[in-house]
Amino acid sequence: MMSEPHVQFQPQGRKVPSKNGRTLLDLANDAGLSIESICGGVGVCAKCKVIVRSGIGSVTPLTSSEKEWLDALELASGMRLACQATVCGDGQIVVEVPQASQRGHHRLLEAGTERKVRPEPAITKVALKLPPATLKDLRADDDRLLEILARKVKGSVRIAQGVHAHLPSAIRKNDWTATVTLFRRSEIIRVEPGDTSDQVFGVAVDIGTTKVVAYLVDLRTGALLHTESMPNPQIPFGEDVIARITYATKNEDGLSKLQTVVASGINELILKLCESRDITPDDILETMIVGNTAMHHVFFGITPQHLAAAPYAPAVRTSLCVDPSHVKVNMYQFGKVCSLPNIAGFVGADAVSDLIASGLYEDRKIGMMIDIGTNTEIIAGNKNRLISCSCASGPAFEGAHIRFGMRAATGAIERVWIDPESHEVRLRTVDDSPPKGICGSGIVDAVAELFKNRLIDASGKINVSSKDDRTRKGKRGLPEFVLATASESGTGEEITITQHDIQEIQLAKAAIFTGVSILMKKLRLRASEIDRVYAAGAFGTYVDAASAIAIGMYPDVSVERISFIGNAAGSGARMCLKSTKMRDLADELSKKVEYVELAAEKNFQSEFAQAMFLPHRDLSRFPGAASRLRGRP
Ligand code: FES
Repeated sequence: MMSEPHVQFQPQGRKVPSKNGRTLLDLANDAGLSIESICGGVGVCAKCKVIVRSGIGSVTPLTSSEKEWLDALELASGMRLACQATVCGDGQIVVEVPQASQRGHHRLLEAGTERKVRPEPAITKVALKLPPATLKDLRADDDRLLEILARKVKGSVRIAQGVHAHLPSAIRKNDWTATVTLFRRSEIIRVEPGDTSDQVFGVAVDIGTTKVVAYLVDLRTGALLHTESMPNPQIPFGEDVIARITYATKNEDGLSKLQTVVASGINELILKLCESRDITPDDILETMIVGNTAMHHVFFGITPQHLAAAPYAPAVRTSLCVDPSHVKVNMYQFGKVCSLPNIAGFVGADAVSDLIASGLYEDRKIGMMIDIGTNTEIIAGNKNRLISCSCASGPAFEGAHIRFGMRAATGAIERVWIDPESHEVRLRTVDDSPPKGICGSGIVDAVAELFKNRLIDASGKINVSSKDDRTRKGKRGLPEFVLATASESGTGEEITITQHDIQEIQLAKAAIFTGVSILMKKLRLRASEIDRVYAAGAFGTYVDAASAIAIGMYPDVSVERISFIGNAAGSGARMCLKSTKMRDLADELSKKVEYVELAAEKNFQSEFAQAMFLPHRDLSRFPGAASRLRGRP
């Protein structure tokens, strides 16, 4: 009997039924394999390389992306891009997944600096001793409860819909002792038997494009009890915000699929948080959500469609509060799922959260908060005036469009040093594993070191006349620099940084510095007048500040003025979960922060062109970096 057509993945040996019209990447997902796919399957990152060992007749011919991204040797070996090669026959197919295409353990940044706030949560509990109902005291249960509560809580309080059904049993079960849970001291969202006032839990969630982090907080004390994180489960639908907006708008059920997967991911995290403290999701009374505007909209089931085209207006700026069932979050059924407000289409609740965590809004001196990602949010100013912008810095710092680029996972080169005399290279990798590729902080270091050692010039051109063995013309005739030889690397292949990679980094850093520069000009600021640069987010935390200044990505301040505030979006979300004052402040700030649409600025193009140079065409903008360059070998 003929066996059903299937695809077998090697070396894992996993088999899945093959289906016409599905890509090898889809089928690898079905097989539970993680193949790198930074561009989300659009065919532009070339990270999903696989080798079709047999059954090529049942796979569609090469696409134009594959012809562009795979070289002659790779094509001759049967290499394909898993997101492009689609099953089109019923033969058996054997596919090899090279080590470099397998996703390793990703380093996810969870921690962030958190400023102290006094716990004044929206959720509070009040234990009550009620007089029992008797023939002489015929008050209804709701009147009885509200009258006793009025002695402890001022102002009008109402009982939320659905809670009445639990009231009679809850107040009688423990001899007329009961605990009410209040939201903003005006709405009773729960009545429980006995005194449970020592159990008040909330969760803060930062939905990043790449990762989701959830924090369990004791709302009485404000203590952080536990943290859990995972890669954003929407990644298979598109690795960047634009790819996901496209998915949500082009597919009939796209938005609901994206909402469901992220909600399921959050539910998984909530379950793990609860297990850590021996409680259940029913004990979670409030969840506070932050994320960029697109992640925010998708989570709340709001179309992100209009964020993708000018004028990029968000559907919602104000903070939201909905029932958990509305967003499919598994927690106490009458609890609250709230969000911080957004500022603009590409400056979202996560940027508001960063701002709260940095404290920039109350500084007298001028500061600048930079949160680098596929989109980089920048907020500059002080307590008197704050302005913001978003820069399309792209996914190069996440490894996309970089020949040996990868995320900050096991084996990623994260620091690079080049000896000024011998040009020998010293590397540091994630988990100290043999190098497999290079992540964002490593690429920035590599470009800075190459520039410092005159191996590239200010326009980014590799100096192939250099005498060392590492600088040369690569297989495609383009200059490259060898970071790790085949014997040093963990893949048996050389790891190089190419002319094209350097250009990608110049584009990304120029996008960021254009934003920095336009905000500085609006505030009439010189770099020396910036008292503090707050570097937020994973990339900002791991990138070497001196290298970031050397290539002209950060303003030219002394490195001591750069504060690393880690996952500030998570910190700000926790601060707002435990303090209504902070939450109200976030609402105020989202209205107060001015937004600058960079693309509409008349000097945008010239700013960008100047920022393409290393560190900048106008060296008077980088006096510190320029003087260090004068002293180089
Ligand atoms: S090229 Fe296939 S996932 Fe990016």
